[in-house]
Amino acid sequence: MRKWIAFLMTAMMMIAAVSCAPASESSSQAEESSAAQESSAAEESQVEEDSAAAENSAAENEGASEFTTATEGVLTMATNAEFPPYEYYEGDTVTGIDVEIAQAIAVKLGLTLQVEDMEFDSVISAVQGGKADIGMAGMTVTEERLEEVNFTESYATGVQVIIVTEDSDITSADDLFAEGANHTIGVQLATTGDLYTTEDIEAAGLGTVDRYNKGADAVMALKNGKVDCVVIDNEPAKAFVEANEGLKILETEYVTEDYAIAVSKDNEALHTAVDAALQELIADGTVQSIIDKYITAE
Ligand code: ARG
Repeated sequence: MRKWIAFLMTAMMMIAAVSCAPASESSSQAEESSAAQESSAAEESQVEEDSAAAENSAAENEGASEFTTATEGVLTMATNAEFPPYEYYEGDTVTGIDVEIAQAIAVKLGLTLQVEDMEFDSVISAVQGGKADIGMAGMTVTEERLEEVNFTESYATGVQVIIVTEDSDITSADDLFAEGANHTIGVQLATTGDLYTTEDIEAAGLGTVDRYNKGADAVMALKNGKVDCVVIDNEPAKAFVEANEGLKILETEYVTEDYAIAVSKDNEALHTAVDAALQELIADGTVQSIIDKYITAE
């Protein structure tokens, strides 16, 4: 609960800080409010040896050391393509901010990008087990995940928001924590929205958390009256609310978080190479221009 209050205060400070700034500006404030949280949910840690890792020489890349990837010449990205505008299907191709940034990183490293779509729940174990080289899924840096994988520099900021129906009696985050509150909250399984609400609402006896494999399914449950609200990242929230009538996003934001790329702790050379490539792409404005393509300031 204490942590919750800290979140709310951070969120309120963020709102005060960015309320008169265009939306895209808040994306560049990663350093301002790092909200990496510990969580209580145990993550399945399924480490598989992948001896098929191939040697790659990136000697021609300035400053890059030797690294290996799961498949020689290929940068395999584990993601969950249910998260517009970061990753989603356009026809049968996965596209979005994360895919374009990963593509630019692959080019810098002399690799071909391959995207593997899976449950969000499986992204970290795919990276840990060496099946995927990077995990990129609008993934928030948290204390618990830092024990399982390495993260690069943050490339974007996310905010957990609350979606309700237009006629909802939930008007702010406070309503979810009020004494005697008993709401059912929809989340995507194993996301930070799940971790926070599980700890701060369900464990505190203030409500129930319903976990869905896809954010869109949680939003469907809200439309069908099965849950009272959905806690999810702001950009997919906007996309889901646009695609569904009768829903709105509450003004009170929840937790501000940093998105980064996960790399196996067993592959420090790849971590260094990916991080260096990402930092160059941040420094030369490529990352911001990719973000701006998908997220327009209101
Ligand atoms: N930022 C949240 C987290 O890291 C949600 C990410 C969900 N991403 C996705 N591709 N479904 O837990």
